[in-house]
Amino acid sequence: MHSSIDTGALCVVFSSRSGNTEKLARVVSSSLSLPGPRRASDAPPEPGALTFFGFWIDKGAMDAESLAFLRRLDAAAAKAGRTARAALFGTMGGDPAGPRAKKYEKTVREALARECPHLAVVSLQLWQGRIAPEVVASLRALYPLSPATLRSIKEAAKHPDEKDEASTAAWALEVAAPAPAF
Ligand SMILES: Cc1cc2nc3c(=O)[nH]c(=O)nc-3n(C[C@H](O)[C@H](O)[C@H](O)COP(=O)(O)O)c2cc1C
Repeated sequence: MHSSIDTGALCVVFSSRSGNTEKLARVVSSSLSLPGPRRASDAPPEPGALTFFGFWIDKGAMDAESLAFLRRLDAAAAKAGRTARAALFGTMGGDPAGPRAKKYEKTVREALARECPHLAVVSLQLWQGRIAPEVVASLRALYPLSPATLRSIKEAAKHPDEKDEASTAAWALEVAAPAPAF
């Protein structure tokens, strides 16, 4: 375990429909030597902790279960007269380095600024995640998918991969124990 991390003040919570975000949440927990991550639906909010929170992109925004949990965390922080800190890691089907990811990040940050005024987002990172086959099938049923979309779906199917897991672990360690400012 990293010596400068106070694990008592950290927790890991996630929302995941098809398992991608859960996979990264497990990486965050194990890289910080914390007990297994908890699901947003039944996790108690801990306004005094730094919450590593995993969400997924649902139609361009943070999924509803995630927003509901962060609202509960915000309410608990307000009640305690403090600001809760959250490090957000999200998964999305598209390219996390592309322009759409920037738009999603803006949308998520704006929603949280509006709905969770007692929440400080200390970091926000996105990773790519496989799009569930039934979602791809329902998209296909709606309209013909362009070659670019098909390529993107094919690329997403490889994620999160080992490289994503390694960068998630590195991110979590850096956020939990920032380098001293000198
Ligand atoms: C209903 C639904 C809507 C989605 N909307 C988007 C979207 O707008 N943009 C995107 O890049 N990915 C989108 N995705 C893909 C998911 O964000 C991606 O597969 C994510 O990794 C799922 O996380 P999970 O496996 O933890 O549930 C969508 C998936 C579903 C099921």
